[in-house]
Amino acid sequence: MRKVELGKTGEQIPVLGQGTWGIKSRKGKDYYDSWKKSLRKGIELGLTHIDTAEFYGLGTSEKIVGEIISEYNRDDLFITSKLFPMHFNFRTMKKAASKSLKRLGIKNFDLYLIHWPSPFTSVEKQMNILDHLVKEGKTRYIGVSNFSVEQFKEGLSFLNTELVTNQLPANITKQKHISESLPYYQENGVTLTAYSPLGHRGYSTLKGELRDKLNIIAKTHNATIQQIAIAWLINHKNVMTVPKAFKIEHVESNAKAAEINLSEEELKIIENTVDS
Ligand SMILES: NC(=O)c1ccc[n+]([C@@H]2O[C@H](COP(=O)([O-])OP(=O)(O)OC[C@H]3O[C@@H](n4cnc5c(N)ncnc54)[C@H](OP(=O)(O)O)[C@@H]3O)[C@@H](O)[C@H]2O)c1
Repeated sequence: MRKVELGKTGEQIPVLGQGTWGIKSRKGKDYYDSWKKSLRKGIELGLTHIDTAEFYGLGTSEKIVGEIISEYNRDDLFITSKLFPMHFNFRTMKKAASKSLKRLGIKNFDLYLIHWPSPFTSVEKQMNILDHLVKEGKTRYIGVSNFSVEQFKEGLSFLNTELVTNQLPANITKQKHISESLPYYQENGVTLTAYSPLGHRGYSTLKGELRDKLNIIAKTHNATIQQIAIAWLINHKNVMTVPKAFKIEHVESNAKAAEINLSEEELKIIENTVDS
């Protein structure tokens, strides 16, 4: 699996990880076993970065990811989780981070993000908790998600540590952050983690001009349009992504997408077919 540098940390991280938003609560054993099978397959194929959050399945995703972590050497996995903006002060934010670590069964996150800029707490307070968690050794790296470039810069102004990533919605049908925000992150050595790389639903019903053009590109590379959609993202410098796949065949297909090199012309075709 191809790797990219995480921010300016010098740490190399797989360009493709595994998303876990889809893991639901209150499901049967077979359901969770299938999820775990897919996550294990991903790890086997080098998708060792697992993205979770306290919000996903209201803790269930972290719990299942924790069960997977317990099967591996901790250092072989890179675990990201996120603080949901429903905690109002330092004490409750700290407690939420501890609960996430407990569900994951680990001593520290590799990367901990503010999931959304909080409407209730200042950016300064949100950065204070991240800073505190780094100092306490509860997370190796910190970052944010769903922050605008302006909010990201404001966050940095309160920190001596780098924010290694901004996790943002970015895909072939939602290209705004690639065209508008990515240049800032590239210039400043920040990784853009593209979420919902397959438009959240997997593009099975994608129609129109974009579908037609993707079909042509996919044929050239003997690939699926979903593989081309993923390849399009990670063919950009400073971008990594975390597709979610419950089905094992999807995990296998996604891993292969990391090997696809698109030409400048193919990248432009995809960019010029969508105005977003
Ligand atoms: N920070 C945030 O606010 C935020 C927000 C949204 C998402 N995220 C993160 O990003 C991750 C991914 O985004 P997402 O869950 O919205 O969805 P996504 O990865 O864009 O798409 C998932 C859908 O694509 C399908 N799929 C996966 N691989 C495929 C393939 N090779 N061919 C065809 N279909 C394929 C999946 O099907 P199956 O599941 O049936 O295999 C599922 O229906 C999340 O799980 C989460 O970790 C973060």
